[in-house]
Amino acid sequence: MRSPAARVLELLYDRREASVAREELAEAASLSARGLTGALEDLRERGQRIEISTAHGVRLVCPVRLDADLIERRLGTRRVGRSVICFPDVDSTNDVAFEAARQRSCDGLVVLAEHQRRGRGRLGRRWESPPGANVLMSVLLVDDNLPQEAVTIAGGLAVAQGVEDACGLPCQLKWPNDVCIDGRKVAGVLVEVRKRGPRRCVIVGIGINANASPPSSEVDRPATDLAAQTHAPLERIEVVRAVLRRLDRWIEEAGRGRLGKLHEAWVRRCGMLNQRVAVLSAGRRCVGRVLDVDPLHGLVLRGDEGHVFHIPAATATVLP
Ligand code: BTN
Repeated sequence: MRSPAARVLELLYDRREASVAREELAEAASLSARGLTGALEDLRERGQRIEISTAHGVRLVCPVRLDADLIERRLGTRRVGRSVICFPDVDSTNDVAFEAARQRSCDGLVVLAEHQRRGRGRLGRRWESPPGANVLMSVLLVDDNLPQEAVTIAGGLAVAQGVEDACGLPCQLKWPNDVCIDGRKVAGVLVEVRKRGPRRCVIVGIGINANASPPSSEVDRPATDLAAQTHAPLERIEVVRAVLRRLDRWIEEAGRGRLGKLHEAWVRRCGMLNQRVAVLSAGRRCVGRVLDVDPLHGLVLRGDEGHVFHIPAATATVLP
C-alpha cells in the first residue's frame, strides 16, 4: 500500500501546474482533512514545492523534485527500474549503484541524484551539473554476459529515443556515447563493469542536460540542454521514464544476443558513416573513414592505406 504522501503526490503530479481543491484531493487520496495536511507536510519535507491557497487549493510546482514513486508507477519494464532510489546528493550515482550490488535482488536498480559531488565522465573527465537541474542516473545490471560495448551502444540509443519520446526533440548519436541535438551534446553515457565478489556488475551511467548545460569553459565541444531546445522548463521524470523503458528493451535484446536491430537503429541515427574521422584510442591517434559501428567490436574504420580496423569504445574518443 502506497503512503498517503505518495498518493497525494501522484494526484497532484497528474494535474501538475493546476490547483486542486483540498476537499477533492483528500477524497481522491482517501484521506481525512488532517491526513491530507500531514501528507502535504511530508511532501514538503521530501523537497517538493507545494503551493496552498484558500482560494485555489493545492498546486505542485513544476519541475518537480525526482521521486521514486512517480518514476516506478506503471513503468511497465521487466528488468530496468524494478526498483528506483533518489538521493539529494551523492559522490557519483555509478558508485552508489555499485555499492548496492551487495544486496540481493538489486539487478535492474535505478539510482538517481539531484547532485553529484564527483560525477564522472568518460576517460577520467568530470561530469558537472548544478543541483536539481538535470538527470544523473545509473542503472545496475548484475550480469555475467552482457558485453560492455553493446551496453554502451544500447545506452546511447535508449537516451536518444527516450528524449524523443518525452520531448519530441530529434536526437543524433555520435560514437561511442554522445547524444546530440543539432550537433550539440545533450547527454552522455558511461558504462562501467566491476566485480562485486563473484558478481559482475554492469553499471550504465547516464547524464542528461535537462534544464542546464555545462559552462562552455568546462567542455571541449558545444553543449545544449533540453529546456533550451523546447524553450520551457523540463519535467525530468517524464524523460527518465521514457529512457528506462527504451533501455529495458535494448538490454533485453543485447542480453539475448540479438544485436541486429540495435545496430540498425543506432546506425540510422549516426551521421558519422562514411565520414573521415580522427580518433584517439588508448593514447594513439587513428585516422580513417567510418565503415560501421559494430555493437561488439566498436568503430570500424578503413585507414588511408586501405586496412580495416576496429576501435573499442572504452578507451576511445573522436577528435573534434
Ligand atoms: C560522458 O563523458 O559523456 C559520460 C557522462 C556520464 C555522466 C553520468 S551522470 C550519472 C552517472 N554518474 C557518474 O558519475 N557519471 C554518470
